[in-house]
Amino acid sequence: MARRIPEPFRIKMVETIRQTTAEDRRQALQEAGWNPFLLKAEDVYIDLLTDSGTGAMSDRQWAGLMMGDEAYAGSRNFHHLADTVREVFGYAHTIPTHQGRGAEQILFPELVKRCRRQRPVFLSNYHFDTTKAHVELAGARAVNVLTPQALDTGTAYDWKGDFDLPRLREIVAAEGDNVAAVIITITCNSAGGQPVSMGNIRAVSELARAHGIPVVIDAARFAENAWFIRQRDPAYAGASIASIVREMFDCGDMFTMSAKKDGLVNIGGLCCFKEDEALFRAVQVNCVPMEGFVTYGGLAGRDMEALAIGLKEGLDDAFLSYRIGQVAYLGERLREGGVPIQTPTGGHAVFVDARLLLPHIPAEQFPAHALACELYLEGGVRAVEIGSLLLGRNPQTGKQEPSPFELMRLTIPRRVYTNDHMDYIADCLIEVKKHAGAVRGLTFEYEPPILRHFMARLRPV
Ligand code: F0G
Repeated sequence: MARRIPEPFRIKMVETIRQTTAEDRRQALQEAGWNPFLLKAEDVYIDLLTDSGTGAMSDRQWAGLMMGDEAYAGSRNFHHLADTVREVFGYAHTIPTHQGRGAEQILFPELVKRCRRQRPVFLSNYHFDTTKAHVELAGARAVNVLTPQALDTGTAYDWKGDFDLPRLREIVAAEGDNVAAVIITITCNSAGGQPVSMGNIRAVSELARAHGIPVVIDAARFAENAWFIRQRDPAYAGASIASIVREMFDCGDMFTMSAKKDGLVNIGGLCCFKEDEALFRAVQVNCVPMEGFVTYGGLAGRDMEALAIGLKEGLDDAFLSYRIGQVAYLGERLREGGVPIQTPTGGHAVFVDARLLLPHIPAEQFPAHALACELYLEGGVRAVEIGSLLLGRNPQTGKQEPSPFELMRLTIPRRVYTNDHMDYIADCLIEVKKHAGAVRGLTFEYEPPILRHFMARLRPV
């Protein structure tokens, strides 16, 4: 095994987390309706629900908070943020938002308006769930065009976040001028935090440009994607992360960003435009009633300062090598223990293939969710399902949508847990594997009409 990469930081402040007993956990899960989303965070020992807003800020970011300029308009922190965006991404126009979905809600209606026809389509390698929701709220359709290689979790492939280019060409040809935008999600969260290759980004961008289709980058994990490009594409072996980031963003026209991931902040988002000033102005108009005035967009001045600092810290080589190395280490431990995972591991998470681990549980009994419940019972580790429960029903037919995956995501917060925590997580899951045959599927006690995975209550069948 490769040598472990130690944390490139020392710890200046600690937060106590407490282990619970098996009996405590059974009771807590019962009360939470067998839905880890409904657990009290205090009842969780290691929280791997998400890497979003759960990271630790640096001493420099905390110092930045003290420099907050809380002016309603024109805060100096906004200007620092906009300058940083210009420097890191080369985009002229910045709108801060409260988080990624805030950017989606103010941008997508404008892209839909630019299409002359009814119900235009957005094409993405994979729409994140809020992205799909905002596409649909804007009256459009969300179509995923992911490479089929991503679906075979057991076989390694370097670029499981890529678009399926032949399929994309077909759809663009068939839809004609009815494509509102192409959204390149870097990394591709839903496929396992998998990177998109530079070649694929470039090809998608060229195809879109040839048809006059705007290119949106969903940039939540942009730095991790750049790191993978340097690691896996020999053409970039000696390149700096900063130069790879610039090259990726040169292929886009605008980006939405959940800054709660690679922006290294607990709250924040961005909606930025390379040069389209008319679109920028139109989206600014939406920002005021939905997010807030155009120089704060739902954020405090101090939040924008922390983000301006975080965007650059997130590009640091030592940080990224440790970060992705830690995720890979957890994956390696699990693979050695015989737990089936998405291979290779992605940037922000290890995705466990519950279809393979719990073959006796059918999709309609949510195998990955059942696995997450079992992992919590085993050791107080909270993970999240990315599968049938998340996908939900077809709004027209009311039938469960067939999910391409039944995955359990072990999402690693940035700079929060140590490699000893990774060992503990692996030990718990390997223990679960030993009695996997006894894990039962789940059925609804309460099924919310939309976004049901957040609030659903279930029980074992
Ligand atoms: N796009 C991607 C690729 C995301 O992963 C997320 C959020 C968003 C957009 C929305 O951003 O939460 O700031 O509004 N992903 C989180 C997750 C919630 O757990 O994967 P947001």
